[in-house]
Amino acid sequence: MTQDEQKRRAAIAALDYIEDGITLGVGTGSTVDFFIDALPRLAHRLAAVVSSSERSTAKLESLGIEVKSFAEIDRIDLYVDGADEATKHLHLLKGGGGALTREKVLAGAARRFVCIVDASKVVGTLGRFPLPIEVVPMARSFVARQMIKAGGEPVWRKDFVTDNGNIILDVHNLKIANPLELETRFNQIPGIVTVGIFAHRGADVLVIGEKDGVRTLGR
Ligand code: 5RP
Repeated sequence: MTQDEQKRRAAIAALDYIEDGITLGVGTGSTVDFFIDALPRLAHRLAAVVSSSERSTAKLESLGIEVKSFAEIDRIDLYVDGADEATKHLHLLKGGGGALTREKVLAGAARRFVCIVDASKVVGTLGRFPLPIEVVPMARSFVARQMIKAGGEPVWRKDFVTDNGNIILDVHNLKIANPLELETRFNQIPGIVTVGIFAHRGADVLVIGEKDGVRTLGR
């Protein structure tokens, strides 16, 4: 069973969380793409759909699903998104696709956050995957120096601009032993828009596609 098949398994299992009349938030990435592909047959049950990226919006619209602006929405009932890493505590590391800011907004607004991953994403400690940080462009060098002070090795994701017009620093070799503390600490650094640690608002449910089936972890 390939990694893509595990991703598809998790994505299909997440369809079970869709209830009639809900407002659905849709994340970004290759795992979410499998979720979006399966969504048209359930779209009639949804009151509204919002998206965390221009990329997911384009894919949803190409399948005939109308996407509302989040500014017009007062609540999200269910948010479904992937992750680059996840722990059994349902803390996440996200932003490999660069959509972390809008993802954090939708996750924060959601009544329930279902995270879909393949088995390779489940880790004991976050930080093997470089931590994405969205940064205001003029603060790039300043924030990079702060990351070096914190023990990381920041790498500017060249030729990439976020949907919000910002840049991404991918910070290598950080040991994220205490995700709650590090998320809070990095959030205080001026110039950082969003840290890719999702610990204060982690997932409510983690759906893991494995080679023998689907495993679910919840709060
Ligand atoms: C995008 C993300 C994605 O959820 C994360 O990168 C996982 O992507 P994939 O499903 O392609 O492995 O945070 O910003």
